[in-house]
Amino acid sequence: MAIYQTLLRRNKEWAQEELEKDPDFFTRLENVQKPEVLWIGCSDSRVAANVVTGTLPGEMFVHRNIANMVVNTDLNMLSVLEYAVAVLKVNHVIVCGHYGCGGVAAAMTNKSYGLINKWLRNIKDVYRLHKDEVDALPTEAERVDRMVELNVIEQVYDLAKTTVVQRAWKDRQGPHLHGWVYRLHDGIIHPIIEREPGSKVEDIYRFDFDD
Ligand code: CO
Repeated sequence: MAIYQTLLRRNKEWAQEELEKDPDFFTRLENVQKPEVLWIGCSDSRVAANVVTGTLPGEMFVHRNIANMVVNTDLNMLSVLEYAVAVLKVNHVIVCGHYGCGGVAAAMTNKSYGLINKWLRNIKDVYRLHKDEVDALPTEAERVDRMVELNVIEQVYDLAKTTVVQRAWKDRQGPHLHGWVYRLHDGIIHPIIEREPGSKVEDIYRFDFDD
């Protein structure tokens, strides 16, 4: 059986199992979407947002891209962020990276990967900010893993720099921002940073709203 046929078969089995456990499962989900969390994660197939957090459909709004980036000009990410924060009013935004991230590792080399160079440039900029700390580590694996942590910290900061988040902090004292790193080796998530609503950003990134 081809893989896509396997997926369709598993889908039917899953839907049937859910119905057997809870006959109202789908009708309940059909009528309301009220997740409390926005997850911004890596596209890596091994870091499946709902699976690693044990969450069900309906519990998390999800955006994934290579190396879990919050890029200021990324219309896709910004649209997801605005919808989650301003409309769904999520209380928590989580940026979750993972140790051994191929995107971060690639960004730390001089290899040219074509179009993706433009995406990885954002990670190279994080490296430049923390070059001394990262270069002091003895092995490549340790340097990549520290960069994964630093990258998550920077992406959380990038969230705090957006008008979407600053507007919500002013209007409703939410959401909380979190930076996590998942370890492929044992499946455990390590919290790295948390930013409370209204937490300080460097003055140049602060917006004064008229109302
Ligand atoms: Co990755």
